[in-house]
Amino acid sequence: MTRTNTTMPPSREDAIEMDRQDPFAHKRDEFFLEDGIIYLCGNSLGPMPKSVVGKIEHTMKEDWARGLVTSWNKAGWFMMTDILGDRLATLLGAGPGELVVSDATGINIYKTLHAAISMQPGRTTIVSEATSFPTDLYMIEGVTSLLAHMDIKLEGRDADNIEELFDQNTAVVLLNQVDYRTGEVRDITGLTKKAHAVGALVISDVCHSAGAIPVNLHKENVDFAVGCTYKYLNSGPGAPGFAYVAPRHHGKFKQPLTGWHGHADPFKFEQTYRPGVGARALLSGTQPAISAVGVSAGLDVFEGIDMHALFAKGKDLSSLMADLIEHWCEPHGIRFYSPRDVNHRNGQVSLTHENGYAIVQALIARNVIGDYRQPDVIRFGVTPLYLRYVDIWDAANHLREVLETEEWKDERFNIKQLVT
Ligand SMILES: Cc1ncc(COP(=O)(O)O)c(C=O)c1O
Repeated sequence: MTRTNTTMPPSREDAIEMDRQDPFAHKRDEFFLEDGIIYLCGNSLGPMPKSVVGKIEHTMKEDWARGLVTSWNKAGWFMMTDILGDRLATLLGAGPGELVVSDATGINIYKTLHAAISMQPGRTTIVSEATSFPTDLYMIEGVTSLLAHMDIKLEGRDADNIEELFDQNTAVVLLNQVDYRTGEVRDITGLTKKAHAVGALVISDVCHSAGAIPVNLHKENVDFAVGCTYKYLNSGPGAPGFAYVAPRHHGKFKQPLTGWHGHADPFKFEQTYRPGVGARALLSGTQPAISAVGVSAGLDVFEGIDMHALFAKGKDLSSLMADLIEHWCEPHGIRFYSPRDVNHRNGQVSLTHENGYAIVQALIARNVIGDYRQPDVIRFGVTPLYLRYVDIWDAANHLREVLETEEWKDERFNIKQLVT
């Protein structure tokens, strides 16, 4: 049941009772989370699954130390891009051979933008969102800087609504399924339908939806998708990202980073490039085998999970947080930045306050870890796999105390660090 705003916010005892009834309560134990830490940053870097320690130790001591180069075969390192890709595809509503785990999201954006453009001769615009994550925008700039005939059109700059920018010239639309600042979920299926109606292709950036909300790439009918594994998929800092291509496009696109791993027969060492089958044509070069183990451990946690049921808990947690903050913190200048309707956000609760940075630092000093984004956004990643209702209650209560006592005014909370 999704909580709605009530006049009396639930008590801490109510939250403890909700935890008692939580069907996902046991999942928390699969993560390394120190007592006393309330981790609200899984939208940036997921916590560590406990199983990763043993898996990496095995990779180091057995596969690398003893297996040496034979582990590219024996431990499956060479095909990890596909093995993990097929597992992740299951979680994201795609099929085998359609998704590869490889490279950073940004690199995959670059490749899929080119791939889509290569299928759209005569079309001259890339459409996206002015509020997109900077990498997405920079990659679009990078692509257009080399393709003189291509132009960029952005929602929020060239039109209020992205659909207004779709026309016969649109080659590709790069959409975020979830906005990284607000957590707002877009109607990717509806937008894809509209883009397809004018003959445009769609790339969905699922960085903030994969592992957070139910994603179904087939049903959404997107042409390509890209995303990362280090946020909601809990695969470790800098773990490889992924790229998906719809089966109807297999063998029909070109991408510029044509390394040997994407070749149809890498060990023939041919002089000229021939693309590999399906999503393998999006691969470039050698991937970090040790980081891939993190993806494997991250995916293990999702085995058997019904994403709809998990997201229902996520919405409950998110509603609880929103209700408490609204009740306790709005009088102190906190404003809601995420959509207030829980059905329109991925769980994330974003707020604004002119002293947002210092408030986040004061919370971190109390072991409540969220983050801050320019110019005044406080972000709390609300992740149902390992967060308890009581964590949410306590976090909102800490925020209330930080605001009431104005402890954020302390000088040490106002020194800007590199990573905010
Ligand atoms: C929506 C979105 N797209 C792209 C990226 C860039 O990812 P990477 O730095 O792994 O290339 C991020 C990173 O946080 C992101 O949130």
